[in-house]
Amino acid sequence: MGTSIAVAGKGGTGKTTIAALLVRYLRERGDGTILAIDADPSSNLNQALGLPLAHSVGEIREELLGKVGRNSLEPGMSKQDYLEYQIQESLVEGPGVDLLAMGRPEGPGCYCAANNMLRVIVDRLSKNYDYLVIDNEAGLEHLSRRTTRDVDSLLLVSDPTIRGLTAVERVLDLVKELKTKVSRSFLVINRTSGDLPSSLGDFVARLPAQYLGTVALDPGIADLDARGEPLVQVAGDSAIYRKVEEVGRWLVER
Ligand SMILES: Nc1ncnc2c1ncn2[C@@H]1O[C@H](COP(=O)(O)OP(=O)(O)OP(=O)(O)O)[C@@H](O)[C@H]1O
Ligand SMILES: [Mg+2]
Repeated sequence: MGTSIAVAGKGGTGKTTIAALLVRYLRERGDGTILAIDADPSSNLNQALGLPLAHSVGEIREELLGKVGRNSLEPGMSKQDYLEYQIQESLVEGPGVDLLAMGRPEGPGCYCAANNMLRVIVDRLSKNYDYLVIDNEAGLEHLSRRTTRDVDSLLLVSDPTIRGLTAVERVLDLVKELKTKVSRSFLVINRTSGDLPSSLGDFVARLPAQYLGTVALDPGIADLDARGEPLVQVAGDSAIYRKVEEVGRWLVER
């Protein structure tokens, strides 16, 4: 079974940017197949990776429910088969990475049965890959509903603020509460300029996550973003990519 990495943290801290660069790092290692899972309903990991927008698992679930309601599911086809086939079809195959978009966790009302099936299917699908990189939304809906599987490494991303670190603390509490299996938790502080204020240092030291340091504000990322270019194209010798390589080694080698 492969190595799964989930990226989580407060909104706008750089989760998607770092998830995309981790995918690039794993691709450059060249030692395994990679599935990137966009678990943010506003799906933008594809943009950061320079891939087309995927038809999402949430949309597929809604289409199935529509078909069931209209009694128009092909005769002889089970819901499970339908979901499995459609999800396989929705995978975006990029260079060295496949992308699956989760979309919205649930529509109005509770579709727990459908979500249970989805969990089984997404789990089975992800087992076909050596690496799994999951870009979570700030609200952690998918993680809390367990539509995505347990993770080996949870990479928490904060900005250099108490609010960012408080959000990280909440994620760690939630993970404990949900009994989601997370083998190891790591923390990076992104978008820093200069040294970390000591008030944040004390907070970091108290968190039950291994601190891997800071990621500086990067002009190359800002420039790509301003031009609407895939962030994954940032220079290989940029400070941000060097740091992500170092973080990536922690996540998969130790
Ligand atoms: N180290 C960095 N240097 C410069 N800009 C950065 C850096 N990290 C992230 N950004 C920029 O900050 C913005 C937010 O980043 P990103 O979308 O990766 O955050 P996010 O945590 O995924 O946000 P959301 O919670 O909305 O999904 C983007 O415009 C991104 O280009
Ligand atoms: Mg994001």
